[in-house]
Amino acid sequence: MIEYKSGVFGLHGDRVSCLLRVNPYGLLELLHFGPSVRTEDADAFLLTPGLGWGESILLTENDTASCPDVMPLAWSGSGRGDYRESPLSFGGQPTDFRYASHEIIDGTVPTVSGLPQARGNAQTLAITMEQPGAQLILYFTLFGNVLTRRAYLKNTGESSITLTKIMSNLMDLPGDYEMTTFDGGWIAEMRKHTVPVLDSRVVNESVTGFSSHRHNPGFLLSAPGASETEGWVYGFNLVYSGNHYAAAQRSLQGLTRVVQGVSPTEFLRELHPGEDFESPEAVIAFSDCGFGGLSEIMHRFVNTCIVPNHWQNRPRPVLFNNWEGCMFDFNHRRLVNLAKDAKALGCELFVLDDGWFGKRDSDTAGLGDYTVNKNKFPHGLSGLAKKIRTMGMEFGLWFEPESVNVDSELYRRHPDWALTDSFEPLFSRHQLLLDLTRVDVRDYIVENVSHILDTVSITYVKWDMNRHSIALGAKAHDYVLGLYEVLDRIFTPRPHILLESCSSGGNRFDLGMLCYGPQIWCSDDTDPIERLSIQENLSYLYPQSTFGAHVSTAPHAQTLRNTPLATRGNVSFFGCLGYELDLKHLLGIEITQIKEQIAFYKQYRHVFQYGSFYRLSNGWQVTNGSTTLAATFRKLVSAAPGYETLKLKGLQREATYRFRTNPQKLRVGQFSSLVKHVAPVDLNPNGVLLRLADRHITLPDGEQALTASGAALMAGVRLLPLFRGTGYDTSQRTLTDFGSELYIIEEDDPCETS
Ligand code: DGJ
Repeated sequence: MIEYKSGVFGLHGDRVSCLLRVNPYGLLELLHFGPSVRTEDADAFLLTPGLGWGESILLTENDTASCPDVMPLAWSGSGRGDYRESPLSFGGQPTDFRYASHEIIDGTVPTVSGLPQARGNAQTLAITMEQPGAQLILYFTLFGNVLTRRAYLKNTGESSITLTKIMSNLMDLPGDYEMTTFDGGWIAEMRKHTVPVLDSRVVNESVTGFSSHRHNPGFLLSAPGASETEGWVYGFNLVYSGNHYAAAQRSLQGLTRVVQGVSPTEFLRELHPGEDFESPEAVIAFSDCGFGGLSEIMHRFVNTCIVPNHWQNRPRPVLFNNWEGCMFDFNHRRLVNLAKDAKALGCELFVLDDGWFGKRDSDTAGLGDYTVNKNKFPHGLSGLAKKIRTMGMEFGLWFEPESVNVDSELYRRHPDWALTDSFEPLFSRHQLLLDLTRVDVRDYIVENVSHILDTVSITYVKWDMNRHSIALGAKAHDYVLGLYEVLDRIFTPRPHILLESCSSGGNRFDLGMLCYGPQIWCSDDTDPIERLSIQENLSYLYPQSTFGAHVSTAPHAQTLRNTPLATRGNVSFFGCLGYELDLKHLLGIEITQIKEQIAFYKQYRHVFQYGSFYRLSNGWQVTNGSTTLAATFRKLVSAAPGYETLKLKGLQREATYRFRTNPQKLRVGQFSSLVKHVAPVDLNPNGVLLRLADRHITLPDGEQALTASGAALMAGVRLLPLFRGTGYDTSQRTLTDFGSELYIIEEDDPCETS
């Protein structure tokens, strides 16, 4: 609810409030953004400078309260006395916007430039600010407990404005904070870093042309000492896939200024009279229940206000992707055999990845072309799709429409369509980007992709993009607008197509892309131990329904780490499950195990994909009404391990739950010469017998089953003891390095307790 009372704007969710006022100088002050309060409480939040701040610049001489440098603002100018970071820059000219009018609007205000935006039940406060020759509208939209902000600037004067910076959000928050960012690179996405915000600026910025795996646009500000369940945490994100910028800095007076928006690096727009520019939508959430509370709010927001309506709350298929198993080495026959095997495992969607078109037998050629490779597909793509659909699976296809190889028909016809600069072209993965700021390039992509989608039975698209931009410079923003137009033209008329975006893995994991497709491929690193941190760190700001999470081969291609199949499954369950490996060398016991994994996942799919997600100290949990699933993950085992406790979260204290282990099997081979601990036989560790036994015999691991109250389970279940060198026994858990286990917790007769 948004209200205006006694000169104060009150924006209230049930767990958050934002109070703003226009101060006597026409500047917009942020009185409060935090726990829910009343609009009438505004006086409690007024900051007064008392006798002033010495040599500071005053807006009104002799009025010591008129010093902009110490005010808690929600917007500011530049070169006019506020020396903290400015949200706006007119190429070196000062800016000084003051309040003109405001409006409270039911719903959202549509963007005018084609930028995506959050949707859903909302109210918007539009505050118009003016300075000679320019108008600025600041939009504050409240979606439940999440606030979004953006700025719209119009040149209302007679001469041009050189716009070199415009932020979407500025907030001065009283107090000290720590800033958590998620940084990395290819196969190393979302590494979490936390630093204190002191008097020097802390910056989170991407300048690669895209939101990037180097620095995800989402970040957190937390009060020192905040934990998973307690303390103040603010979460910030941007509905944008291009260069972004955010910064935080504490002032001498103890206000932490945070800004976020499009990166000003290389940003330049010449706004001629009458022209306008709008910033992307910033997303801001607050929780006084720690990081877990913040994630819960962000997850709900993404699931209900960001992802396309058609896919909200809709189950995602278990897919099989041929990339890691085949790379470029496939043809119709090999894929049909693979699809048969995938179907037998229980997969529901078969995805054909890179290499189906042009001369694409390696990553050096073919990008930009859409002609199906007749050598690989004598019956065309339709022939393959038909075959797969008759097996009872859906068919999905990979595209990389934004790029071009020099060795392609497209480049030979239109070399000028590639983005270059005045220097020799620089390549990445042998490719260049197409200039999506051009209408003819956008039309070419839309026509070709649409034609394939309409002529081949396709229900899923993987939209890849495998290079950073160079040569984009000031065009970076227009490129992203071009991309959004293309996505909109292709997918809005075909809402049933599940779009999973990808950029060398998670190089474009952002809310902008999620507005068009509900899933993103998190990382080319599918090693489950690596995924523990990639998926967990994504979970701070993104729900598990947005993670493409696949089981692949072990030892793993990126790390050479050998991990149990059970752990590969247990990690991938907490996302949209897929399999991506060559199936032909799987052992019978592995096939059985994968079948069981997929059947199990399907049974609990909705809980895994849409349940409330909790980060536990030793694992993850999802909960959906009466069903909870929790996994504990082990990195390295230690000798003589102590007792382990699993503390569940979010259960009803009084309700009774049945708690049980999801059964797991042990491979005989893992004991090697120690097999005599397991069976009364002495087998040669290098002999045929042990190898045979390993292929065919599995042993049950310890299982636990008990009934207890929610209160007890949240206080902590004592798990079975771990293997401690005293022999195999089902009264303990025999986990090796990188082992894990999963527990199913179901409410006993939920009807009676609800
Ligand atoms: C990069 C993606 O992240 C991979 O999953 C795969 O699709 C390759 N591109 C194909 O070239």
